[in-house]
Amino acid sequence: MELKVENLTLDEKLTLLCGKEHTMNIEHFDGKLPKITMSDGPHGLRCVRRDENGKSHAVLATAMPSLGVIANSWNRDLAKLDGEVIADECVENSIDLLLAPGVNIKKNPLGGRNFEYFSEDPFLTGTLATSYIEGVQSHGVGVSVKHFCANNYESDRTMQSSEVDERSLREIYVKPFEMTMEAKPWSVMAAYNPVNGVYACENEKLLRKILRGELGYDGLILSDWNAVHNAYKSVRAGLDLRMPFNKNNYADLKNALEKGYITEAQIDEACGYILEFLQKCATAEKKCLTKKEERHALAAKIASEGIVLLRNDDILPLKGDKSQKIAVIGAYSALPAIGGGGSSAVPTFAKIPFLSDALKERCSAEIGFEVGVNSVAYSNAKDAYSLAYKSDVVIVVVGEGGDRLYEGGDRETLILRAEQRLFVRELAKYNENIVLVVESGGVIDLTAFEPYVKAIIYAGYAGEGVNEALADIILGKTSPSGKLAETFPLSIENSVTKGDIGDGLTVSYSEGVFVGYRYYDKHNLPVKYPFGFGLSYAKFEYSDLIVEKTGDTDFIVSYKVKNTSKIGGSEISQVYIREVVPLVARPIRELKGFSKDYLAAGEEKTVKIKLDYSSFAFFSTAYDKWFVENGLFEISVGASSRDIRLNATVSVELPEEHQPSRNRMDSMIGD
Ligand code: BGC
Repeated sequence: MELKVENLTLDEKLTLLCGKEHTMNIEHFDGKLPKITMSDGPHGLRCVRRDENGKSHAVLATAMPSLGVIANSWNRDLAKLDGEVIADECVENSIDLLLAPGVNIKKNPLGGRNFEYFSEDPFLTGTLATSYIEGVQSHGVGVSVKHFCANNYESDRTMQSSEVDERSLREIYVKPFEMTMEAKPWSVMAAYNPVNGVYACENEKLLRKILRGELGYDGLILSDWNAVHNAYKSVRAGLDLRMPFNKNNYADLKNALEKGYITEAQIDEACGYILEFLQKCATAEKKCLTKKEERHALAAKIASEGIVLLRNDDILPLKGDKSQKIAVIGAYSALPAIGGGGSSAVPTFAKIPFLSDALKERCSAEIGFEVGVNSVAYSNAKDAYSLAYKSDVVIVVVGEGGDRLYEGGDRETLILRAEQRLFVRELAKYNENIVLVVESGGVIDLTAFEPYVKAIIYAGYAGEGVNEALADIILGKTSPSGKLAETFPLSIENSVTKGDIGDGLTVSYSEGVFVGYRYYDKHNLPVKYPFGFGLSYAKFEYSDLIVEKTGDTDFIVSYKVKNTSKIGGSEISQVYIREVVPLVARPIRELKGFSKDYLAAGEEKTVKIKLDYSSFAFFSTAYDKWFVENGLFEISVGASSRDIRLNATVSVELPEEHQPSRNRMDSMIGD
């Protein structure tokens, strides 16, 4: 069927602009429009079905790792696979649009929804989100890249204005959205919050100028749920679809049209985008390529690459032979924290094995399990101490679940609950060989645990495969290969935002482009675990950096990475750029490329990474566009943002007419 705006009555057009629950008011159209359904993501399908009695039931689905863990994997193929698995469950449940992925930047370590986002870095976010989208859409299911834009705080998210300067907006907050345009997302979701005083859904500059104009976006723009405050202003601003249905929106549009505040042409424009979207849904070739029974293993495989080994005082991997006694302690080892609260929580059907059972299945060691203490049960502490005393090594799982990380609120602290901290301190009196596993959707201040443990594994919210993935890592069946996509600062007081979550009306973005590692580097601050950091059981050496110029601003960076150990493993190598003498204040290091490569013991590989105009550009508010300045740029290759192994300097020389009228330094020196 061909869907045309001119075939709709005015009432139908206005109805079309207002959605309904997680679908649209299709009943209203007398069979003229295809029925479509949306579901939340990004960590798996989350949809509710009503039975014949009108009772709603959540559809059970595979709980995939959170986007935070996908980011820690730095693996484009796995991000794509993740999208494909989720799309398959959409196809099986006749879902046309997955409301994911979230690509907001982790500006604030306390961010309540950080687990739903990738990273503090726009390049890493944009790269992995693009792969995720390709994965979903290659199966004929659309995505909604969200939440556009500068939606970095959950506290007062429907009120608090993100006060962000022009350059940071483009370089940090819009950038990941811009990068995902390559994957042609079917829709973009406008955020709840105001940006510089105007609601994102009613913000003409964001929607018309930047998204449609500069980013060239020609898909559907829909609102977050109940994020529209003034329907006709959102039409003017370029928002197509208001979700979900709200009769005030309909009435507001009708009234505004009658009064001439908006024109029928503006309504037709929005309807046009909606109809094109419906057409896409109706004609897409839906493909389901994975089998139900293999998805749990895929979730575990992806998780195993996103789990990060933060510390290892020669205790891991465990031998796991008959002579070894391993104690597994902690409620989270039995009921892991696999995701956060809110619209991304996936009702899983999986029987998640206890970590102790996953270990038992994989080795012949004697394995015991005790809950120890958690907020509801103190009573088992003695049993846990006894088990620890009798064991050679203790694995303690601590963390926080969806009660602390959820949408609609930010965390109050980076510190885990007191009972967990005190318990691990006590436990260390009975056994000094403690491996700490941390499950959380965000940065944790681990200071209180550090003196008492010999290894720290950061699992994040790794989905339903977490315990199999952890068991493989703990026993060395997989060498850990995740690296942090977000800096772990020394404490919240030391962090970029210093705990500021705004005053309810406005929240400051005064750090400018210096978000995440860009901030700690600029101020030369020590951090606990830097961006891009993660340990492996293997050892890697970097050598032979060559930067070949292939165009004015095009280069191929090549270098060798060698596994010098006797264990196979994957290494994530990172390419950072710095402008040596910049026109404007620029970060000391900015990620512009990375590669994750599996290397067998002793193997060496040449990595090649392309740099182009966007790698060198900054957003010039003087020219109101992206701009590359002639001069020297340092290219650094590192194992983390603070472990730079190789350096080279290149010169960028664009024709003179693209440069400022005069070099400032020359004018100071005189001709
Ligand atoms: C969330 C969105 C979600 C939507 C629909 C909102 O509360 O912010 O991310 O997609 O609900 O469920």
